[in-house]
Amino acid sequence: MIPAPRDPGRYRVALVCLGNICRSPMAHVVLDSRLDDAGLGDLVQVTSSGTGGWHVGDPMDRRAAATLTTAGYDASRHRARQWVTGDADDADLVLAMDHQNLADLGGRSARVMLFGDLDPLQGGAEVPDPYYGGDAGFEEVLRMVERTTTEIVSEVRKSLPTP
Ligand code: 4NP
Repeated sequence: MIPAPRDPGRYRVALVCLGNICRSPMAHVVLDSRLDDAGLGDLVQVTSSGTGGWHVGDPMDRRAAATLTTAGYDASRHRARQWVTGDADDADLVLAMDHQNLADLGGRSARVMLFGDLDPLQGGAEVPDPYYGGDAGFEEVLRMVERTTTEIVSEVRKSLPTP
């Protein structure tokens, strides 16, 4: 279950990792693509950010972008931004990629969860940080993100009025 939207008829999802160049950008691109395919692109706003500010303004990590591109997604438009506390007021649902990100957001609350809480295969799993590892880590992130964003779309659809 995900929280009800603050404003009926639209839904806002904020995806948060550490650097906003690997995990949350990958989830952002895949979720946007799934929402467009579901015809919900205009009703659901997705943002992503990092709790750290080292990469603000940068494009996606090239390994993350390559993994997405190979799988048929457009990774070109991403620019990294840093989470600011006020973002919480603009989101219906904030999804943190790992437990450290969750702690940095102030922990779980009515609108703040772990992204992996919606993972249909490994409920409650962290999305492991691939930054210091090899290409296999990015493939694993993509698999987690693909199955979890499918679940997110299905949950968000239930929170919107039937067309
Ligand atoms: P992300 O990965 O949180 O998935 O974007 C990282 C990117 C950069 C750094 C750490 C994690 N960094 O330390 O610069």
